[in-house]
Amino acid sequence: MPMSEPRLPMDRNLALEAVRVTEAAALAATRFIGRGDEQAADTAAMEAMRAALSALSIDGRVVVGEGDAGQVPMLFNGDKVGNGKGPAIDLALDALEGTSIVAKGGHNAVAVLGITETGGFLPVPDIHMEKIAVGPGLPVGVIDIDDEPSENLRRLAMARGVEVEDLMVCILDRPRHEDLIDKVRTAGARIVLIADGDVSGAIATALPGSGIDIYMGSGGAPEGVLAATALACTGAQMQCRLMFRHESERAKARAAGHCDLTTKLTIADLVRGEAMFAATGVTDGAMLMGVRRHRGGAITHSLVMRARTGTMRLLESHHNFLLKEPGELK
Ligand code: FBP
Repeated sequence: MPMSEPRLPMDRNLALEAVRVTEAAALAATRFIGRGDEQAADTAAMEAMRAALSALSIDGRVVVGEGDAGQVPMLFNGDKVGNGKGPAIDLALDALEGTSIVAKGGHNAVAVLGITETGGFLPVPDIHMEKIAVGPGLPVGVIDIDDEPSENLRRLAMARGVEVEDLMVCILDRPRHEDLIDKVRTAGARIVLIADGDVSGAIATALPGSGIDIYMGSGGAPEGVLAATALACTGAQMQCRLMFRHESERAKARAAGHCDLTTKLTIADLVRGEAMFAATGVTDGAMLMGVRRHRGGAITHSLVMRARTGTMRLLESHHNFLLKEPGELK
């Protein structure tokens, strides 16, 4: 899909400010862990994220958001955020990636925010996407979404100097992945099946010590852009392709500007320019520890990344609710 060049350079490391936004969303969502109310958790996270964004000196536009205008009350595609006084930037976000995870008290829920210069994100409709991702330091072409899982695993094992049996594959636990799971098992690799949260699953491939070597399978296209933003900061490789279950989804993709619906999308197609990424764990997962609450406060764990410098920061923040204005206490 043709995209205009990003317009304005960003001279601040906004990711360090963005992490306060993901922390706010995670802290708000954590009150709903295991309480069986997806909607309440999502709304709390969205409201907190939007309020925190309003405090940032940015002229922000949501490109990959919580849904289309009219579908969701805020943080929709096209929503303007920030105080309007800073650089013009585009945002990809998910105030609560893994709403049902939070409702059930499961693993891998995070609050996520990606930032680029204007025009840096590929707008994607809220449909599914095939995805394959590996971490940094591997030869270009080690993965190819068109190849069989066995072939990708063979090349990855060879590049890593290990056996296929040593590799750990992360896959969303869905009936549509039965065939993929069979093929990976037949190839001999090991599998971590996750119930939800493939942003964390894909990014984990780039995190030292995560134990995950490769992500395979299909999940949300907006989640693909979010994962690509983080992976763009690390030198990882990812390939994706939009998937269509109904004709209406093709129409959605065309409306979003996709001309060739079969294009193999790389990280460079999904996110361009000065990408930054921040995520805060809501529940424990492959990427981050979840929020720890204690009397009068909470501890959050966040990941902050910047493509220009390749810096990856792991941030532990201690929040003191007792020092906040009474109206801010949750
Ligand atoms: P939500 O935050 O919208 O609940 O998404 C959770 C998630 O597991 C994503 O991580 C993933 O990309 C998507 O759902 C997969 O979609 P599906 O549940 O349709 O397989």
